[in-house]
Amino acid sequence: MLALVNTPNAPVELRELPEPQPARNEALVEVRAFSLNRGELRSFQNNEEGWVPGQDGAGVVLRQAEDRSGPPAGTRVVALTDEFGWAQRAAVAGHRMAALPDGVSFSQAAILPVAGLTALRTLRHGAPLLGKRVLITGAAGGVGTIAVQLAARSGARVTAVVGRPERAAGMTELGATDVVHGIDSARGRFGLILESAGGASLARAIQLVEAKGTVVVYGNSSAEPTTISFADFRGAQNSRVQGFHYFTSESEDRFAPDLALLVSLIADGSLKPRIGVERTWRDIAQVTEQLRARSVSGKAVLLVD
Ligand SMILES: NC(=O)c1ccc[n+]([C@@H]2O[C@H](COP(=O)([O-])OP(=O)(O)OC[C@H]3O[C@@H](n4cnc5c(N)ncnc54)[C@H](OP(=O)(O)O)[C@@H]3O)[C@@H](O)[C@H]2O)c1
Repeated sequence: MLALVNTPNAPVELRELPEPQPARNEALVEVRAFSLNRGELRSFQNNEEGWVPGQDGAGVVLRQAEDRSGPPAGTRVVALTDEFGWAQRAAVAGHRMAALPDGVSFSQAAILPVAGLTALRTLRHGAPLLGKRVLITGAAGGVGTIAVQLAARSGARVTAVVGRPERAAGMTELGATDVVHGIDSARGRFGLILESAGGASLARAIQLVEAKGTVVVYGNSSAEPTTISFADFRGAQNSRVQGFHYFTSESEDRFAPDLALLVSLIADGSLKPRIGVERTWRDIAQVTEQLRARSVSGKAVLLVD
């Protein structure tokens, strides 16, 4: 089968690889679409030649897991893998999949595993969201465009932070109450802040949280460090800075129900996937550059054609 393989020279290239050998608890899935995450850009550098990236996928179950976990053969699914997902076929644990309703396409589903779970689960740190002021940095990105919608649907008043004025397009339609250019333009305090830019943005987020509120730190897109001190919490006593890693944030048995919840929100129209780029997987190099350059609005999806 064909797979995108890590190489020392280009980030990844298409090569022939042996078929996956699923374990007892894994299904064999024919991958039709996957999405690219900012975190995966770094993983090219951190892994050796021959490694196959890929966490997000959508496709069709070819063979159900031997232990009967997960959907049967023929089911259209969204799937989360640790790695090895950017291939024509992948082995996927039965409990890390959810069936797709008829109206949900492979491309729409492919945006969900990493970005959707991150948006959903970071927001849970602020529950209940009804009436709460929520600030979301990186709002025009993959996680951000989903988080804005889920927060708004849950009754939050969402302030979306974008990096450049043109990145504000469509934010109000996604449910943002306010859209600001740079976190320094945000006004008032917030019960929940989702922070992924790092550096000065995280420092400012800590100054904007309200007493007993929460700043969820789930990324560092700027790669800049942050200096904080106790005095920063003076105006918002007993507020909390919460680290977040989507893979370990909740128990393993929560993957399937959370993926099912996210696809159901697409199916009923309350979550509108924002797919900024949709290309064949043969264009992975160009799409990687677009994501790195912050020119993808929402998610980048690759089709396994
Ligand atoms: N901890 C976890 O479990 C977890 C899970 C998923 C993602 N992440 C991390 O969360 C972050 C967001 O992920 P994503 O997939 O949504 O990424 P993305 O689609 O690339 O979106 C990132 C957004 O951050 C904004 N940004 C602000 N400062 C930036 C900078 N210096 N460099 C790059 N972008 C900057 C950009 O907005 P503008 O273009 O409007 O400026 C961009 O839209 C990444 O750092 C990713 O690694 C962590």
